[in-house]
Amino acid sequence: MTASGTALPLTDNASDIVREALAAHAGVPGALLPILHAVQDALGHIPGDAVPQIANALNLSRAEVHGVVTYYHHFRATPPGRQVIQLCRAEACQAQGADALLAHATKRLGCALHATSPDGAYTLEPVYCLGLCASSPALLWGDELHARVTPERFDRLVAESRSTA
Ligand code: FES
Repeated sequence: MTASGTALPLTDNASDIVREALAAHAGVPGALLPILHAVQDALGHIPGDAVPQIANALNLSRAEVHGVVTYYHHFRATPPGRQVIQLCRAEACQAQGADALLAHATKRLGCALHATSPDGAYTLEPVYCLGLCASSPALLWGDELHARVTPERFDRLVAESRSTA
């Protein structure tokens, strides 16, 4: 988005990716969600200019597509930070200190859940169970699972990520 709130035009690459996602799901009933997943997997978010392209292809209104993108927290309308951290917010992790870990993480990174740190380095997202309930609290840092994450361990992960960035 520009400062005036206008969506930036899609790059050729992004437009190709949207076209490929549409082609891969052409004629499939209920294709909107798989298409949005495919676009976000490839681009990291759903660019605003992809919305009319998707709406036209599926014979939906822009408002309908936009509504789905904004309804599901999983979908991002803006690019994520360079690293995405998903903190487990489900019950077993809650019982083992996930709230304290979340409070620490938001303070340490300077951003809330569903937001990106001011330096653009980290996006913090909730996730609901990573299958590590016996070793909670857990988080997914990019593609890496981490169990029994204390605030101190979280700080070490941040330090390691900065040294390898
Ligand atoms: S509840 Fe957090 S990993 Fe299962």
